[in-house]
Amino acid sequence: MLNPQVLIVDDSKTIRSVISSELKKHSIDVTEAVNGIQGLDFTRTNHYDLVITDITMPGMDGYQLCTEIKKNPDTQSTPVIILSSNDRHEQIEKGFEVGAAAYVTKTKARKDLLPYVKEILNRAKLLRDKLVLVVDDSKYILNVVASGLTSAGFKVITATNGREAFDIASEVAPHLILSDINMPIMDGIQLCEKIQSHPGLSHIPFVIMSSGADRRTMRELLHKGASAFLVKPFNIDQLVITAEKLLSDHFQIILQQRELFKKERTLLMGSITSLIQALEARDSYTKGHSDTVSRLSVKIAERLGFNELDCERIAFAARLHDLGKIGIRDDILLKNGPLEDHEFAKIKEHPVLGADILNPIPSMEDIIPAVLHHHERMNGKGYPHGLIGEEIPLWARIISTADVYDALTTDRPYKKAFTHNHTMEFIKKISPDELCPECVKAFQAVMLEARVPLN
Ligand SMILES: [Fe+2]
Repeated sequence: MLNPQVLIVDDSKTIRSVISSELKKHSIDVTEAVNGIQGLDFTRTNHYDLVITDITMPGMDGYQLCTEIKKNPDTQSTPVIILSSNDRHEQIEKGFEVGAAAYVTKTKARKDLLPYVKEILNRAKLLRDKLVLVVDDSKYILNVVASGLTSAGFKVITATNGREAFDIASEVAPHLILSDINMPIMDGIQLCEKIQSHPGLSHIPFVIMSSGADRRTMRELLHKGASAFLVKPFNIDQLVITAEKLLSDHFQIILQQRELFKKERTLLMGSITSLIQALEARDSYTKGHSDTVSRLSVKIAERLGFNELDCERIAFAARLHDLGKIGIRDDILLKNGPLEDHEFAKIKEHPVLGADILNPIPSMEDIIPAVLHHHERMNGKGYPHGLIGEEIPLWARIISTADVYDALTTDRPYKKAFTHNHTMEFIKKISPDELCPECVKAFQAVMLEARVPLN
């Protein structure tokens, strides 16, 4: 690996050689220029990771040199440290105005210069070749953000809507995506979802930039896998700091762990789905039952005002609600006729068995109470714990309602299916005693709206 390349521009030979010998001790290659004009010539023919320049020099001073370096697209990302014997406030201010990354006074150079050099070189190493995809339908914002990031040392590519951004991302796999929310053709939310569900792109940090009014959407996006958000109007420094943080080694490790966690989760979901399929293959009644209960539960949850994320988890809980039946013997589970008391007692174990299967899995924490309590009844006469009313978790009450509907409208060997209308009447009748009235009300509204039964 090549040593970092630093250009020192100073008309004093003594200063050049003092800095030079100090930097060489730290494996940094140094080129010396005797004034601004020579310094500028060097930056046009060679690449430097850092330029350190004096201010007062004949021909072209340090401010002009810095301005010229920042004006040229080929060198605008090269950091410049201004080294001066002057520590007046206006001088320092002017140094930053012309684009210097740091201003060090010569009296403090012995102590301060090396840490600055190291920090700037490290940052440059981190940012070198890092490609940021900026997505916004406003050309103005695209330009401001792109030029800010370019001067900080990033490579930038732009897109004006989500679809264009997704096509570019699929082709070049950027290191970071920075996206607006509201855009034509494909918005930032859809883009974030598409990136997150693409196996080759989901590891890319996704930063949302939008106005404060979109805070709710931003929170939702953070749940969907976005890494950070910037509230407009933000300044370029905030943007650069966020981007650097997201690209730092530490953050990359966190991202890799998240990826691993996601992969394990997908694998786990796959195993659980296989368990459900095994259960459904064994018992023709259960076949399709979990799917229907899941669909109806989501409709009820939506009606009750649950957010999208909760609805997804409720759908998953409903899909798993009868998982414990996998532990019930064939001669009881598949019996062609009404069950004896002791057989029914065995069947009643399935919510606890289901919860036991899911218990060791940390990501199932929110699902387990819904599985465990889906046979509780409002009057306390349900099982396994005989919970009363609101003691029963709401997700479980939702699933019970959907479960009862699907059970009654399905043919069993010893019982003909009820019609939709008959079932709705029946549910209304048992409602306050057995099913949660709030859930039943939502369910009735859902069914009325659908006009035709959803199952
Ligand atoms: Fe059940």
